[in-house]
Amino acid sequence: MILNLTLIPGDGIGPEVMGQAVKVLAKVCDKFGHTLKYETHLAGGAAIKERGTFLPDETLAAARKSDAVLFGAVGDFKYDTLPGDQRPENAILKLRKELGLYANLRPAILFKELADSSPVKKEITGGELDIMMVRELTGGIYFGEKGTKETPMGPAAYDVEIYSTEEIRRIAAAAFEIAAKRKKKVTSVDKANVLNSSRLWRSVVIETAKNYPGIELEHIYVDNAAMQLVRNPGHFDVIVTSNMFGDILSDEAGMIAGSLGMLPSASLGNGKFGLYEPAHGSAPDIAGQNKANPMAMILSAAMMLRYSFGLTREADAVENAVKSVLAGGVRTADIVGAGVKPVSTEEAGNLIGQKI
Ligand code: IPM
Ligand code: MN
Repeated sequence: MILNLTLIPGDGIGPEVMGQAVKVLAKVCDKFGHTLKYETHLAGGAAIKERGTFLPDETLAAARKSDAVLFGAVGDFKYDTLPGDQRPENAILKLRKELGLYANLRPAILFKELADSSPVKKEITGGELDIMMVRELTGGIYFGEKGTKETPMGPAAYDVEIYSTEEIRRIAAAAFEIAAKRKKKVTSVDKANVLNSSRLWRSVVIETAKNYPGIELEHIYVDNAAMQLVRNPGHFDVIVTSNMFGDILSDEAGMIAGSLGMLPSASLGNGKFGLYEPAHGSAPDIAGQNKANPMAMILSAAMMLRYSFGLTREADAVENAVKSVLAGGVRTADIVGAGVKPVSTEEAGNLIGQKI
């Protein structure tokens, strides 16, 4: 098979972790007889610096004509003072929206090898977890009307949380499809005790569930979900929620699973095309130091093999390589225990590559 990819390393630790994922993919292609082809393009702060815009047209054009996109991260403190509509983060938001990638899958897996890395006690996590967060990605407050206006309390700013029936239906359907291949249980997270948009969310999820009679559905308020995730994370299997609640809860779930540095993601639409990115962001504070954990990026590449190319054995090989180095005691700084010397980004990538 020929894998035609667009690579968008972006900012911060993006380029460092991307380098490791490409190295591992090259190994996989070599071993399983595939051809890896890619173009590398700018986005985020890197694009603002070189081209004066967060998402140059050719980056989007390249993404559109490839089979899949591997994305590092965007964002840097030095752009914090830019107006909202010029910030580097717009690059990923626009890519998601333009490419129709409405379903964001974030598997928060606590590997048993990392049971002690979770900030949550082992008695609570059970030493192993596997939660699939299904986050709506192209709607809600991220993309609703924004603005400023005068109020009696002074100048005000607003962002509107808005969901259409169809936007809710398709993300709910995605969650049920995933649940059908897992433990047949979906937890829908909303704030239906307060928000209109959440009341519509809940009713559409209930309606959609009728097409999936074998799947158990429960509803929980987002504040309670945040609490239950640390109280009894094993309760959850598939969680489906809105763009913003999913953003927040996936960081929480990722951390419970050991480190945000372990949390990959797949952003999918209706076809096979997808964009794959680690959930951790650009981490500018540690950028360029060769100490970031490349595993979330490498595991994102594994998700790409699985979802965009249907290459199950190849995806398994990557995931097993990660598990195997973890079992061998290899730890980057974010997951290192007392008395263990952390490996660099580069070393972690090399060791995982060797296991392919
Ligand atoms: C994420 C990130 C992004 C988001 C930012 C960088 C726009 O936090 O992918 O979780 O909020 O979706
Ligand atoms: Mn986030």
